[in-house]
Amino acid sequence: MKIEGKEYRTIWFENNVVKIIDQTKLPHQFIIKDLKTVNDAINAIKLMEVRGAPLIGATAAYGLVLAIIENNDQSFLNKSAEKLIGSRPTAINLKWAVDRMMNILSGINSEKILDVALNEAKEICEEDINFCENIGLNGLKIIEEIYNKKKDTVNILTHCNAGWLATINWGTATSPIYHAHKKGIPVHVWADETRPRNQGANLTSYELNEEGIKNTIIADNTGGILMQRGQVDMCIVGTDRTLSNGDVCNKVGTYLKALAAKDNNIPFYVALPSSTIDWKIKNSKDIPIEERSSDELSKIEGVDEDGKVKKVKIYPNKSKAMNLAFDVTPAKYITGLITEKGICEASEKGLKNLFK
Ligand code: MRU
Repeated sequence: MKIEGKEYRTIWFENNVVKIIDQTKLPHQFIIKDLKTVNDAINAIKLMEVRGAPLIGATAAYGLVLAIIENNDQSFLNKSAEKLIGSRPTAINLKWAVDRMMNILSGINSEKILDVALNEAKEICEEDINFCENIGLNGLKIIEEIYNKKKDTVNILTHCNAGWLATINWGTATSPIYHAHKKGIPVHVWADETRPRNQGANLTSYELNEEGIKNTIIADNTGGILMQRGQVDMCIVGTDRTLSNGDVCNKVGTYLKALAAKDNNIPFYVALPSSTIDWKIKNSKDIPIEERSSDELSKIEGVDEDGKVKKVKIYPNKSKAMNLAFDVTPAKYITGLITEKGICEASEKGLKNLFK
């Protein structure tokens, strides 16, 4: 998708270096950063310079490529794989991508291993783009249906950033929106600010602006009243881990939006590539929920009147703060899962029908 009119992907490989858009600097600065070592990749994931389930999976895959360039040795590769999987706990894509890479690399000799790794990392990215595009085409049908009934702008609420910046291109939750916009359907997005890191404001609104899609940032607690007032036609969110029973783990606050949507009879969809499905964990209580530093809550970054980026503390010095990064939305609140293979019920039966 575009930034200042130029097409970008979120990650690419050039001259033995992995290039990323540093998302901690957006929206005030657009900086392309080089990742040269596997530790650079691990830190980029931990610090959320790259974030979003599909993108951290792709970064982990490229992290293994960097590990091979650094030190073409099996035990270094194994340790790197472990560290990459541990760099963030909740999104299943990290483990999915590392396992996929390690499987394909097993038994490959050291002369060929770099080429094989690089091809597979690129393939993971291409596949994600293809999946996200298909999610868009499938989700477009829902938006079209609403538009055909309403004959007016379709208002869509989304949480966090499940946009192209969270994937390689297109996004998951945003892909149906981009496809609707391309088709000439008038859409408007309510972008939940998404405290504490403000991915909705800093990333979703930013990327929609760059593509010319109307959007309004709202405080996280505003969705409910907008739904009661009939100003939301549908919700679409992403997911970091989707259980086979249809429960969805996504950015904290997603659950509350799903409850409000249910109470107001508003369709609540989750968009996902199959790489976020966890077929093993059966009970959502077993999902590892990331707890991040409370500094992310108590300090906030912005631009001062002179255009300088500054971080300021906003909480009382003596107050404690807690920063859980994800929550689980039970399948019963989800209208449907929009996947690359089609739309299904959020249930074991629904998912198994699509993914035999
Ligand atoms: O903590 P983040 O910014 O990595 O969280 C991202 C989300 O919760 C997204 O909604 C999710 O990864 C889906 S991305 C297509």
